[in-house]
Amino acid sequence: MGEKKSANSMWGGHYAFGPADAFAAINPSIEVDKRLYAEDIGGSLAHAAMLAKVGILNGDELKEIERGLAQVKSEIESGTLAFSVALEDIHMNVESRLKEIIGAPASKLHTARSRNDQVATDLRLYARNLCGHMDGALKALQTALLAQAEKNIDTVMPGLTHLQPAQPITFAHHLLAYVEMFGRDRGRVADAAKRLNECPLGAAALAGTTYPIDRDMTAKALGFAHPMRNSMDAVSSRDYVIELLAAFSIIATHLSRLAEELVFWTSPLVGFVKLSESFTSGSSIMPQKRNPDAAELVRGKTGGVIGSLVAMLTTIKALPLAYNKDMQEDKRPFFFAGDEVLLSLKAMTGMIADMTAQADVMRAACSRGYLNATDLADWLVQHADVAFRDAHHLTGQLVKLAEEKKCGLEDLSLEQMQAVHPKITAEIFSAIAIDACVARRTSLGGTAPARVKEALSTAKKAVG
Ligand code: ARG
Repeated sequence: MGEKKSANSMWGGHYAFGPADAFAAINPSIEVDKRLYAEDIGGSLAHAAMLAKVGILNGDELKEIERGLAQVKSEIESGTLAFSVALEDIHMNVESRLKEIIGAPASKLHTARSRNDQVATDLRLYARNLCGHMDGALKALQTALLAQAEKNIDTVMPGLTHLQPAQPITFAHHLLAYVEMFGRDRGRVADAAKRLNECPLGAAALAGTTYPIDRDMTAKALGFAHPMRNSMDAVSSRDYVIELLAAFSIIATHLSRLAEELVFWTSPLVGFVKLSESFTSGSSIMPQKRNPDAAELVRGKTGGVIGSLVAMLTTIKALPLAYNKDMQEDKRPFFFAGDEVLLSLKAMTGMIADMTAQADVMRAACSRGYLNATDLADWLVQHADVAFRDAHHLTGQLVKLAEEKKCGLEDLSLEQMQAVHPKITAEIFSAIAIDACVARRTSLGGTAPARVKEALSTAKKAVG
C-alpha cells in the first residue's frame, strides 16, 4: 500500500490520509491534460471577469487573479512551472500555482464552478481550435491536389475498377475525386465545430449553482454561440469528441486510400508516379530501393485513428449522467487522433506537392487491358445500328481475337474487324484511339479534358 501520504490540499478537508500508491498512479491526468493550459486559463479569466461583474469578486481581486493567471501562463510557456502529479490535473495545477503567486484571492476563483464544467469548457475550446487546424490542413492538401491536377488535365491513364483496366481517364480527373472527398471532410469538421460551440461553463458540478452567475457573459467572452441549456448535459456530453473522432476517422480513411494509390503508382512494376527523395527512403540491404514509407505510414496510422473512435465510443457507452471519472480518458485518444491526422495530412500534402506524374508510362499502360472496348461497342451502337447487348457480345469476340494475337483492339486489321461485323468501317480506328475515348466523355462530372477544366475551376473556387 505504501506509506500514508498527506491529504490533497484542494479537496482533502475530510481526508486524514493521502492516496494509495496505485491510486496515486491511476488518478492523475496532468501528463495528458497539461496541453489544455491555455484553454484552462482562458476559461478562468472569463469566469473571474463574470464573478467580478456579479459582485462575487471585487475589482482588486479580479486584477490580482488576472495578473496571477498571466504569470502562470508565461511560466508554463517558458517551461519553468513544474507540474505536480499530486495535484492531479491542469485545473488544480493552475489554481495551486495561482495561489502561490497571489495568495487569498486565488481561493475565490473556484466559486460557482466545478472541475466538471471547467474541463468540459476547456475541451470544447480545444476541439474548436483543432477544427480550425484540421480545416487548414485539409485545404492545404486540396490545394496541392489542385496544382497537380492543373498540370495533368491531358495526362491519360488507365482508369480501374476492381484494380482491373476499365476505361481511360485523365490523371487530373482522378486527383479531383480526392479534392471532392477532402471537401466533404472539411464540411464534416465544420458541422461538428458549429454544433460543439456552446458553453458548459456555469453548469458547475452537475446541477447549476446558487450564485447569481451570468452564463451569457462567459459564453460570449469565450466565443461560444450560447450557454448550454442543461447543466447535466453540459458536464457529461462528449458526443462532440466522438463526432470529431468519426470525422477524423473518415479523413484518415480517405488519406489511406490515397496513400494506397501512391504505393501502387510508385511501385516500379507500375511506375505511374515518382515521389521525391524527401518522402521516400532507401533500404539498408537493397541498393535499388526507394520505398514509399511516408505513404505507408499514412495508410498505417489509420488503424490507430479508428481505434481512438472505438475507444471513445466504448468509454462513453453506458455511462450514467452526469460526470464520471471515466471521462478523463477522453483526452488521450482525442489528442492522439488529432495529432496523427494533422501529421498525416501534412505528409500527404508534401508527397502530393512533390510527386511527378510519369505521363509516358501512364499512356503506355493504356495500350494494355482493352480500355477502349466500351468505346468500340458504343461505336457499333451509334454507327452500325447494333443493339448495345449485341455490340457488347461482338466486341467481346474482338477482344478474344486480340488476346490471341497478343495485341490491342486498335492493332486488329479492318478485315479482322469486319469478319465480326460487316458494317465496321475504317473510322473505327480514330474512334477507339485513347485520347478520343477520353475526350468523348463529356457528360457532367466526366473525364473529358474539357469537363475536367471546368471542374478544376469550380473546385478552385470551392476550396478557397
Ligand atoms: N481531470 C478531470 C477530467 O479530465 C477533471 C474533472 C474532474 N472532476 C472530478 N469531479 N474529479 O475529467
